[in-house]
Amino acid sequence: MSVLLTGGLGYIGSHTAVELLENNEDIIIVDNLSNCKIEVADRIKEITGKDFKVYVADLLDREAIEKMFEENEITEVIHFAGLKAVGESCKKPLEYYTNNITGTLILLETMQKFGCKKIVFSSSATVYGSPKTVPIKEDFPLSTTNPYGTTKLFIEQILQDLVKANPDWSCVILRYFNPVGAHESGKIGEDPNGIPNNLMPYINYVAAGKLDHLNVFGNDYDTKDGTGVRDYIHVVDLSIAHLKALEKLRNMQGTDIYNIGTGEGYSVLDIVNAFEKANNLKIKYKIAPRRSGDIAICYADATKAKTELGWEATRTLEDMCRDAWNYTKNCIK
Ligand code: NAD
Ligand code: UFG
Repeated sequence: MSVLLTGGLGYIGSHTAVELLENNEDIIIVDNLSNCKIEVADRIKEITGKDFKVYVADLLDREAIEKMFEENEITEVIHFAGLKAVGESCKKPLEYYTNNITGTLILLETMQKFGCKKIVFSSSATVYGSPKTVPIKEDFPLSTTNPYGTTKLFIEQILQDLVKANPDWSCVILRYFNPVGAHESGKIGEDPNGIPNNLMPYINYVAAGKLDHLNVFGNDYDTKDGTGVRDYIHVVDLSIAHLKALEKLRNMQGTDIYNIGTGEGYSVLDIVNAFEKANNLKIKYKIAPRRSGDIAICYADATKAKTELGWEATRTLEDMCRDAWNYTKNCIK
């Protein structure tokens, strides 16, 4: 009996694989390597000393996915696989809809065919659009501003419709806030393709001398220092939330939705300062115009996850900055 991790060689999937293996779960990973390297599988094995099967396959390849279900007794799925770059999704919407939505539909149809009826889904705080107030609770209105976000919202709806029509299914939807940091071993972490879009990887590239300076997108927001505020969460804390979600999934029917964040908001300049302090480095930055599509403030009310899953984040901003840099300096050439 195994837990299948789609996209399990990616950033969040690989950290979750480590936590699952360390908790004696049997896992299988399927990944098409579109945004990761196969070597990540060896790193996971090195960290945990445990073995597992990896299928290099695309969720759009129905035959390959069915074969994987035929060859294994998969009891639950944690569905990470998807394309995730907001800007790219505006330029290539059809690619995003096909990969994320068709890929999910093929996965769900295959699960149904093989009697696997339990799924955890990686959603995002992006489904809250531009929230009117913070902290954000799970019952806030939903909307999106880009095709990537829309794929998340559509998939959430598809899952809820599926579970409504089939009461023997169960589904946990996790809405992640801003995952950052890396495993403390420094062996796995976030490895963006090309120039990073997100703040923490960008700062790491500046620290590594791969980029000259950070552009701080706007210092005229209505926040404490004028820069954007987000809820940054250590990727290991986020991964542990999946263990709790799996436990819940095994003992429930229906759909449950949880915000996975720390409940703390930090500004861009807070992150720069924390990174400098944690790693004893200087980060050159310049104030630049606002980035289109950005919101001023986004942070979670994570009470529901604490009450119902017994999960809360324990790692600090200093841990996030230290572990991110530890990975970058070890692994990113
Ligand atoms: P990632 O790109 O590192 O991992 C996703 C993995 O899925 C990659 O290894 C990629 O190769 C694989 N993949 C993509 N399409 C596939 C397909 N059709 N078939 C098989 N494999 C496929 O991303 P991540 O940061 O680990 O994110 C994991 C999930 O969490 C994604 O669904 C993402 O949208 C969601 N999420 C991420 C963030 C974030 O900031 N990192 C925030 C909120 C939600
Ligand atoms: N920022 C900069 N300079 C940069 C990059 C980012 O100032 O070079 C600022 C942004 O303006 C924002 C903050 O840093 O205020 C965080 O930006 P990120 O790009 O790191 O993260 P976002 O909150 O924009 O978005 C991320 C993911 C989305 C996901 C969302 C919520 O990219 O996919 O978190 O989970 F939906």
